[in-house]
Amino acid sequence: MAHCFGRLFWYLEKGDGSMALWGGRFEAGVAEVTQEFGASLPVDKHLYKQDIAGSKAHAKMLAAQGIISAEDEQAIAKGLTGIEQDIDAGNFTFDINDEDIHMSIESELTRRIGEAGKRLHTARSRNDQVALDLRLYLRDACDALSAQVKELVLVLCQKAQEHAGTVMPGYTHLQRAQPITFGHHLMAYAEMFQRDLGRIADAKTRMDVCPLGSGALAGTTYPIDRAQSASLLGFSAVSQNSLDGVSDRDYCIELASALAILMMHLSRFSEEIVMWCSWEFKFIELDDAFSTGSSIMPQKKNPDIAELVRGKAGRVFGDVMTLLAVMKSLPLAYNKDMQEDKDAIFDAFDTVKLCLTAFIPMVDTMTVLPQNMRKAAAGGFINATDCADFLVGKGLPFRDAYKATGELVARCIREGLTLETLPLEAYREVCELFDEGVYEAISLEKCVSDRTPLGGPAPEKCTRAGRARAGFDAERRIKKETIYDKK
Ligand code: ARG
Repeated sequence: MAHCFGRLFWYLEKGDGSMALWGGRFEAGVAEVTQEFGASLPVDKHLYKQDIAGSKAHAKMLAAQGIISAEDEQAIAKGLTGIEQDIDAGNFTFDINDEDIHMSIESELTRRIGEAGKRLHTARSRNDQVALDLRLYLRDACDALSAQVKELVLVLCQKAQEHAGTVMPGYTHLQRAQPITFGHHLMAYAEMFQRDLGRIADAKTRMDVCPLGSGALAGTTYPIDRAQSASLLGFSAVSQNSLDGVSDRDYCIELASALAILMMHLSRFSEEIVMWCSWEFKFIELDDAFSTGSSIMPQKKNPDIAELVRGKAGRVFGDVMTLLAVMKSLPLAYNKDMQEDKDAIFDAFDTVKLCLTAFIPMVDTMTVLPQNMRKAAAGGFINATDCADFLVGKGLPFRDAYKATGELVARCIREGLTLETLPLEAYREVCELFDEGVYEAISLEKCVSDRTPLGGPAPEKCTRAGRARAGFDAERRIKKETIYDKK
């Protein structure tokens, strides 16, 4: 029955003599290019576990409803377990002619168990099947990713505890602005990543809806029990409209967006790490294990991981755009365009996972150089606000205090002095209210420790924030050297 015109056409009959599962309606075959172009197997084979779990639940429900026999259901379950074991062990040969993972598994099942295998697809379509598989896959992917993000928050909280009193310059416009601590700076990132966790959890809640039973687009006439298959698969609800059930990909877009925001945070952090490693800053030094050298310049130690994380943020932003663009003009319900969803959402998850896998130990093992941070904080009139506040404490209105301090700063610049080295007489020439106490008031440690209102950089607040955010327990983490393999 196979007719071949040279290599142009691959007809419906496959290598083993069987027909493609949807071959019945076709008289002539499809071109090889059609088959290859339409196949999603190289991407969606990663869904095999979810596909098998979904099929088992579906078969169980069919049997419970009397739509297939109990014997068929048992044969199906056994056959699927065997297939899963073979794929796990790498003993399964995927055939691109099967088009996608759903047809791969179903046709192999029928090869293995015969008639019963052909009954599995009763009251189901690949359209609700793929929608189900993707939700199941992403549910697990969310859990794995959240565990990584929690680890990052923990590392940040731990480092923040260690550096709750390490003074560094805080910046606005990348100009030295006011003194803060390194711990406080790190806890800002902990806040961002905590929000990322919230976004992932939130998207996951909305995704927790089982589309099985939506069929191709219009449900089914069989007396199925959607609640049963949903609960077998651990869903808390079933989708409410069959058209939406098969064509909703909001959850992919929401998750990709949450991941894009997470990458934006990682990228900002990376940018700072790159700067902090430079000789211009030298606030930190990365561990040798997480840096690279130059092929020509012997002195170089490059923060490649941070740079690559910054670069890969762009990929994930692109994945969000891909998903939005794929979906934006699709009429209801399923369209083959949607097959492109998996490449994009898998790439987003894989990229973030990879980035975190390198980023977390890089941050965890970096050496902080407090003396350089302090030096930078001491040099740029970073305590000018506190000098003005000293005068406010003596009863001067803030605007007048601001002006007086501005004059002092100008004088310091003219005379090559700092607020710390400017003599008291000079202070008093500008404002009588100054006394010896000003030197203590402008000490960097005091500038930081007096900022006690909630959310501020006072060391005790940083310590408390760290504990609250991560349920911090210094003993929980094994010594760093044992965590990361160094070659
Ligand atoms: N491989 C397809 C996808 O990923 C599965 C659904 C195919 N449905 C169809 N009617 N062609 O979207």
